[in-house]
Amino acid sequence: MSLLAACSGSGPQSSLEPVGPVSREIDGLWILVFSIAVVVFILVFVALVVALWRFREREGDDRRPKQLHGNTKLEITWTIIPAVILAVITVPTVQGIFSVREVPTSPDTVQIVVTGHQWWWEYEYVGYERADGRPLYSANELHIPAGPPINLTMTSADVIHSFWVPPLNGKRDLVPGTLSNLTLTADPEVATTDYGAGVGVLLGQCAEFCGLAHADMRIRVFVHTPEEFDAWIAEQMEPAPVAEGGAAADGFTTFTAVCTACHQATVQQPDGTVEWVGPEDFFIEIDDVAFHSALGPDLTSFNNRTRFGGAVFVNDDQHVAAWLDNPSDLKPMQPELNDIADRRILGMPAFGLTSQEIFELMTMLETWGEQPVER
Ligand code: CUA
Repeated sequence: MSLLAACSGSGPQSSLEPVGPVSREIDGLWILVFSIAVVVFILVFVALVVALWRFREREGDDRRPKQLHGNTKLEITWTIIPAVILAVITVPTVQGIFSVREVPTSPDTVQIVVTGHQWWWEYEYVGYERADGRPLYSANELHIPAGPPINLTMTSADVIHSFWVPPLNGKRDLVPGTLSNLTLTADPEVATTDYGAGVGVLLGQCAEFCGLAHADMRIRVFVHTPEEFDAWIAEQMEPAPVAEGGAAADGFTTFTAVCTACHQATVQQPDGTVEWVGPEDFFIEIDDVAFHSALGPDLTSFNNRTRFGGAVFVNDDQHVAAWLDNPSDLKPMQPELNDIADRRILGMPAFGLTSQEIFELMTMLETWGEQPVER
């Protein structure tokens, strides 16, 4: 049964269906090594079967075969052949290691700074500022344009994570205190192709065990045409409206009383002023890069996300209501170990919100960002 799993077609999370130059290079290397391995496998098995058949025991044979020691020609041959095979594999492998690790420098490179958290991904789109003067922050769902190289500059706020979107590139660890880079480049047609998770949607996940909700630390990459990407950025730049009255306004009161201990948002007050609500910014400085390290995701454009909670749960009434009631009912976390002063967060706790408060928060969140485009 477990063998049959290998027979399923390529899904949206397969290394064997590369959709960009970097992953294609990795796939080419895999095909080369695999082909050589198949040839070696066939030759060895044919030789083995022939030997078993030809030298099987026959009636009247002496059970003790002819004793030989040493055959210089044979020994040189079986040393040289593997050495040549390894040399053939080594050259493209070493070339591949360097080219996959290359940090893109072309002027059209899109720069995104990634901070890994237990158990979510924080993104900063470098060069884009919201009206409050702060960079554009988002979480879990990564939006990129098809075509230009995307340079992810990454670190971790707590333990080692690993960023892995198989159709675009291999895995790259996010190590606390260390900076790592990963290039994602998608072919132009990816933006208009459905690989099984929606048009232009590729799936990935954290590939390094990082604790209780490691399996729920997913990634959804939305690959856009350049025009769609600009439209998405424009949508994200919009501050979240604060309602003048009604349920959404009451929701905002709860938001600033409870949620902003960890979450942040760029909001626009009814009088038009744009301001930022949330805890003080915290940065991890490594090699001239300031990695924003929030206690919880920025929620400015929450309604624009298709998933939340590590890109696992569909962003609909049912899931958001259940999450606000008790997040640990949906996702295994350890909020009892949280220590905000020490910046140690292992999940969102249940705050004992009433169903009225949950309704008000949801009413507010539904006005924070446009509905995502149907894919
Ligand atoms: Cu993060 Cu596994």
